[in-house]
Amino acid sequence: MDRRTLLKSSGLLLGGLTLGNLVSSVTRASQDNQAASKTANVLITPTKEQPLLLNFNENSLGMSPKAQQAIIDALPQAFRYPDAAREQLIGKIAENHTLKVENISLGNGSSESIQAVIQMAIYQAQKTKQKVQVIVPNPTFNYAELYAQALGVDVVKVPLDNKLAFDISAMKKIADEFAGVSIIYLCNPNNPTATITPAEQIEAWINATSEKTFFLIDEAYAEFVTDPHFRSGIELIKREAKNVVVTRTFSKIYALAGLRVGYAVAHPDLIAQIEAFISIDNTNTAGAVAALSSLDDKTFLTISRTSVDTSRKIVTNALDKLGLEYLPSQANFIFHKVTGDVKTYQNRMKEYFIFVGREFPPATGWSRLTLGTPEEMTTFVSVLNEFRMKGWI
Ligand SMILES: Cc1ncc(COP(=O)(O)O)c(C=O)c1O
Repeated sequence: MDRRTLLKSSGLLLGGLTLGNLVSSVTRASQDNQAASKTANVLITPTKEQPLLLNFNENSLGMSPKAQQAIIDALPQAFRYPDAAREQLIGKIAENHTLKVENISLGNGSSESIQAVIQMAIYQAQKTKQKVQVIVPNPTFNYAELYAQALGVDVVKVPLDNKLAFDISAMKKIADEFAGVSIIYLCNPNNPTATITPAEQIEAWINATSEKTFFLIDEAYAEFVTDPHFRSGIELIKREAKNVVVTRTFSKIYALAGLRVGYAVAHPDLIAQIEAFISIDNTNTAGAVAALSSLDDKTFLTISRTSVDTSRKIVTNALDKLGLEYLPSQANFIFHKVTGDVKTYQNRMKEYFIFVGREFPPATGWSRLTLGTPEEMTTFVSVLNEFRMKGWI
């Protein structure tokens, strides 16, 4: 189930979370911008109006104060089209990755970049009368799958292995045996497991394959990674790979989810093809200037990372004490086991106004939990401990 459908079915849109209290939670979050340095032993009281949202991998720190200021400063000129701000942002992203502006395509969130890449790759295959399929691990972030299905293209779902890692050899075999183009979606770190796939595995596959195997590497959470076995797919693009696109987003580490800024990185020839599927002027002025300022605010980047690291520690300490298994998280969420039925656990948390992530079949018995601020996670842990006392987990 995607986020929009989930929001509707959870009643969150109807059940009291109005724009008013969203705005006030943003204001509160911005006041919490120093959260990483704050003590984590303050408890907050989630309520119906101010629930604890640990379900969509948002960054509850709120955006950098400099990004907020940039939006305010840009408002008087917001009656103009966003070309200048977009151009500056593309330049800054390219510079940050030591790439050319021709390597970058902005998206209305990385969701739009993913959609455009999938549409482009399918169109290119069909234009040359080749069969096409999309191969995805299961479970993973499902937008590539949804956008491919909308075009009537077959999606092959390859279950994770018994360690909940990508089964690269199974995916490769399916691509190798297919008489046509295979579009491979690799989410690294993966959502929902928060684990990375080591660079050696991805690069060995890409280096050993022809251009009829096309890779979309979604690195929405790359900025949180500390594991040295991770290497961005952007390195392959620097080596002129023509069958690799990497997508990134400002929604996660930079906390700009509501402003919708993401981008694709690829060889200039591919970027030109992707751009044909992108809505013109897709990035709005507010999003573009906020993203630009975020890239300049290195202090915020450090706070954002440190905050998630602190929150992760709070949660893993608690899970260790409770004897609940979890995977090594390299993102702003963690995949952990719960005792008993996950849906029941999720509903009980809801009664405490805490929205935790859900189960992702076929990985049953596991729950995805977003790492909010340290004080939010301290609150979550106190409720989790209460659940243990009640014999619920
Ligand atoms: C792995 C992954 N990719 C992409 C996205 C989409 O992010 P956005 O469209 O906000 O950039 C998400 C959102 O949760 C995600 O988890």
